[in-house]
Amino acid sequence: MISLSQVSKHYTNGPAAVAGADLAVARGELVSLLGPSGCGKSTLLRIAAGLEVPDAGTAEIDGLAPAEACRRGALGVAFQRPALVPSRTALENVALTLELLRPAAALDPRELLETFGLGAFLHHYPHQLSGGMQQRVNIACALVHGPAVLLLDEPFGALDELTRADLTAWLRGVLARTGQTVLLVTHSVEEAVALSHRIAMLSPRPGRIRAVLDVPAAARTDDWTAPAAIAMVAAVRRQLREFVPAAA
Ligand SMILES: Nc1ncnc2c1ncn2[C@@H]1O[C@H](COP(=O)(O)OP(=O)(O)OP(=O)(O)O)[C@@H](O)[C@H]1O
Ligand SMILES: [Mg+2]
Repeated sequence: MISLSQVSKHYTNGPAAVAGADLAVARGELVSLLGPSGCGKSTLLRIAAGLEVPDAGTAEIDGLAPAEACRRGALGVAFQRPALVPSRTALENVALTLELLRPAAALDPRELLETFGLGAFLHHYPHQLSGGMQQRVNIACALVHGPAVLLLDEPFGALDELTRADLTAWLRGVLARTGQTVLLVTHSVEEAVALSHRIAMLSPRPGRIRAVLDVPAAARTDDWTAPAAIAMVAAVRRQLREFVPAAA
């Protein structure tokens, strides 16, 4: 459903951001990208979203070029920094996705924001919301038109630990109902283990996918203290540490 094939990207005047990345995400699967800061996770996600053109290799969403998949409403994207229209309320921002894409079926923007715990803030403007609230509105904008594929770049990055755990559980519930295919960038190993079928790990400079680990079903749980989850988190941390040796 999401296919990255031998994708490389070298920014002008910058480092080689990613090199020869291969990743295929099956329909209904959630794959997380983990790796140290600057290793090219957001670059890969932007390439999958059609917002960045790779120097080499191809990206496809359900057999389509990402930009075309986007035009057809098959793609929902939420980035690290919320991209909300300042002159529109939370509700109006979520409705904007529907005005632009006019999908055949969609979630109800009001209900969606209520499940995000924003029922009391529907008519607030972005500057009246906390960073975490803005991020939740941002995710609602990405979800509301029911896209087959979701690309999420640290969607819960600015949230406190408990809200983050609650929203992770909530997202799992949504995805179980919608069967969406998801590529998720996160810095949280716990979050990746709780949500993912597989975790792809990148080594830095240039970013290469160096390992892909299967997450056992018992570890994919909202109970982050479950033994299977703790064991998986430890295995992922060990693997990441191999790519980035501890400072002497
Ligand atoms: N528009 C750009 N122009 C030039 N260099 C860029 C650009 N975007 C990213 N880079 C560089 O490419 C590399 C990968 O950046 P990227 O944002 O993909 O990393 P990341 O893994 O998402 O990092 P983080 O975890 O901090 O979000 C970095 O070295 C970064 O400085
Ligand atoms: Mg990033």
